[in-house]
Amino acid sequence: MKIVNTVNEVREQVRAWRKEGLSVGLVPTMGYLHEGHKSLIDRSVSENDRTVVSVFVNPIQFGPGEDLESYPRDMDRDAAVCETAGADLIFHPEPSEMYHEGFSTFVDMDTLTGGLCGKTRPIHFRGVCTVVSKLFHIVTPDRAYFGQKDAQQLAVIRHMVEDLSFGIEIVGCPIVREEDGLAKSSRNTYLNEEERKAALVLSRSLNIGKELFENGEREAGKLKDAIVEEVQKEPRAKIDYVEIVDWKNLEPVEKLDREVLVAMAVYIGKTRLIDNMLLHLTEA
Ligand code: PAF
Repeated sequence: MKIVNTVNEVREQVRAWRKEGLSVGLVPTMGYLHEGHKSLIDRSVSENDRTVVSVFVNPIQFGPGEDLESYPRDMDRDAAVCETAGADLIFHPEPSEMYHEGFSTFVDMDTLTGGLCGKTRPIHFRGVCTVVSKLFHIVTPDRAYFGQKDAQQLAVIRHMVEDLSFGIEIVGCPIVREEDGLAKSSRNTYLNEEERKAALVLSRSLNIGKELFENGEREAGKLKDAIVEEVQKEPRAKIDYVEIVDWKNLEPVEKLDREVLVAMAVYIGKTRLIDNMLLHLTEA
């Protein structure tokens, strides 16, 4: 496995692979890799001849006052995870390699990005769409792998790929959880022992919603109320949002009569965590 820092080195390597007729998968990450990332790399390795993992803490998707500086970084550990999983190339650029002086072209989206995380993180998806577009142009993968944990991001990227005719297959992969239910996240490292326990309220409240749905509840409002009520019982938790939206257009729904995304962002102390689940009626 090679680690490279420049766009040219990636292009050279991918060109060589293409000459041999090999397919290429891309796993875009911000590093500090955990089991969730590993599942994306595993999937890419199983579906492509070669896998590129990008490790880049993208400054333009962080708003003022967010955790850009403190975002955890550990390249040696990341390299070990990638190597074990069978990745072939890590692209680990400096910010100046991705955003040269005078950089002023951004990819933005008029739909899907205003609600959910977009409400409190207004520039976030512009930053994500821009960096992911750049990575797609640099790596030119056949397939790219994203976690369902960032459900809005997955929907946004799928939409962008269609709008801008990237011709890349976007593969969404299931949320990976700790044994006790907490969704894996690089930001879990911010939690102290008490907060770690408190953070279980996210998955617990989603499970309460799921049970209601499985017992026949079809009013989105009732499901949302039950989830909110459970989160509010946890004194360390402060809700950013709990929303139930149509999985196709991310617009709020009243009835649970189609595939819906139940998504939440909750502060546990100072750490903002997200979690979600998809609900849909299955044929009997
Ligand atoms: O999901 C992430 O880690 C990031 O948003 C991504 C897709 C790597 C873009 O920086």
